[in-house]
Amino acid sequence: MTGKVNIAILISGRGSNMDALIRACTETDYPARIVTVISNRPDAPGLAKAATAGIPSTTLSHRDFSDGEAFEESIHNHLIQNNVDLVCLAGFMRILSAGFVQNWPDRILNIHPSLLPDYPGLHPQARALADGKSQSGCSVHIVTAAMDAGPILVQRCVPVLSGDTEEDLSARILEQEHLAYPEAVRIHAQKLLNRTAVLDKTINSKEMSMDTHHVSVNQKELIRAHAMWTDFIRFARRGVVVVVVLLVLMAIFLV
Ligand code: GRF
Repeated sequence: MTGKVNIAILISGRGSNMDALIRACTETDYPARIVTVISNRPDAPGLAKAATAGIPSTTLSHRDFSDGEAFEESIHNHLIQNNVDLVCLAGFMRILSAGFVQNWPDRILNIHPSLLPDYPGLHPQARALADGKSQSGCSVHIVTAAMDAGPILVQRCVPVLSGDTEEDLSARILEQEHLAYPEAVRIHAQKLLNRTAVLDKTINSKEMSMDTHHVSVNQKELIRAHAMWTDFIRFARRGVVVVVVLLVLMAIFLV
């Protein structure tokens, strides 16, 4: 991670939240940039929007794979190939397995059109209306193995007005989603950048602890490689000192 967090956006449809993130990433001080868009549907209208913005995109359709595992493996490989640090689900209509999520701890965000923990799952706006709620809203949260249940980063509320249809309420919430997602990504990306800075400092000061359950697999490998390298340098330095001492002793002995 150098300066900015690399984002992948996963979509299945119109991609209006993706659009909001594209706009946010044009701000110079925004701590993230979008490196790839992945759609599981070849006909997702969001793909054309990504192309207009000049962002590379790919379609990885779950239908083209023998099973969910193979589908997720292709997504995982694409993320690794594109040096992705953070995955943003934006209307991505596939549930990611616990195994996939655990490979990207703290690295997947989702937006949901309800005030979680209320109404996880499908049709949250319709369910809020059916329950006669006076307010609703949206939540951006970190994705964990349990659906729509990870730690919440940002929530924004809207009123439910009398006579609202599901479409009315959805549109009112969507306006707030377009503010909430960029705000949450800014907060989380900055947190990841700060964490990397702390990690770099730790590596540099050679006070490495392998208690790094909060860092990604790639970072752990980096730390391990760095530890092996510094051990090797230390060992080589000692070897040089021993050889020099032996040469000096031999010289004294011969003289
Ligand atoms: C949004 O309402 C989001 O909260 C939900 O799916 C919808 C996606 O809309 N997860 P868009 O594709 O971002 O326009």
